Amino acid sequence: MSGGAGFIGSHVTVELIEAGYDVIVADNLSNCDMTCFNGVKKITGREDIPFVKMDFCNPVATELLFDSNQIDAVIHFSGYKAVGESVMDPLKYYKNNLESFINVIESARDHGCSNILFSSSATVYGEPDVLPVTENTPRQPATSPYGNTKQMCEDILRDSVKAYSNIRGIALRYFNPIGAHPSALIGELPRGVPNNLVPFITQTAIGKRECLSVFGDDYPTPDGTCQRDFIDIVDLAKAHVFAVRRMLEGKMKDEYEIFNIGTGKPLSVMELIKGFEKANGVKLNYKIAPRRPGDVTAIWADPSLANKELGWKAERDIEETLAAAWAWEKHIASGE
Ligand code: WQD
Repeated sequence: MSGGAGFIGSHVTVELIEAGYDVIVADNLSNCDMTCFNGVKKITGREDIPFVKMDFCNPVATELLFDSNQIDAVIHFSGYKAVGESVMDPLKYYKNNLESFINVIESARDHGCSNILFSSSATVYGEPDVLPVTENTPRQPATSPYGNTKQMCEDILRDSVKAYSNIRGIALRYFNPIGAHPSALIGELPRGVPNNLVPFITQTAIGKRECLSVFGDDYPTPDGTCQRDFIDIVDLAKAHVFAVRRMLEGKMKDEYEIFNIGTGKPLSVMELIKGFEKANGVKLNYKIAPRRPGDVTAIWADPSLANKELGWKAERDIEETLAAAWAWEKHIASGE
């Protein structure tokens, strides 16, 4: 697993191990530390999970990893993910996100690792005309270099599996992953000021931030705030187990498949804030602020293909998810 020590990778590691798979976690730790990996070891009770500190932009190191291990499937998470930063420094994003994935595909192809899972994003849909979005909803031109790298990586995988007959691929398009593991031992650890809504909410609730800004309340939505498909991180992690199993068991219907990973239910920014207050019995200090440039008004998934083909479904309810996010923030604050 590339980029396996981060927010999503660590939750996926837990679910894969609990499903009986052996996992090698590889990460260059450029955007996280060992906190979550250590949490994974505690949750699973497995001190022996292999960890490799390496950069997938280095083709030699990537080769070496595949040379020295028998790898049946690879999940590619590593990549930069700050939308705003990608606009300021696009080459950093193109270089890192494309190079690392190309190296992974090349090494997989050359070492008999047939199965490649890519972590894509709902960002590829841009501002959709029709909601909810299905996998056939046309992708819109990306609004940021970050979003563009997700589209390009999807295309690189699609073209590669078409050309090289010994590999196949799945792209999972995540909607908005939030929450934390119920143990509160792993979760999201943003560096600096969080860009994403839920980390900003939990940091405001705990007093690290003074006030949450709600970016726009004049959108053409029921309450004027943007709508998203917030998907629990544990539910999202479980989707990877189904996808990996589908590949390993040779159940794919096409050499390249795409699945939306979302709940299918829209929630507005304001509903999420109210939900957080209710789930945790806290009051949030928030104010209405101007719209954030680049935000889409509303997007949510039609997850029926993943429900049917993967046999996966989002199960956790939003209150549980927001309680877990809060428990994780308190766990970090406790310094344990
Ligand atoms: C959600 C809503 C904001 C912060 C981004 C990427 C996407 C994916 C996830 C990551 C929006 C509003 C936010 C705040 C607010 N990739 N908001 N106040 O923009 O849907 O998706 O993150 O790796 O590719 O684009 O998620 O959590 O930033 O915002 O009002 O302080 O919350 O305006 O409507 P987004 P988000």
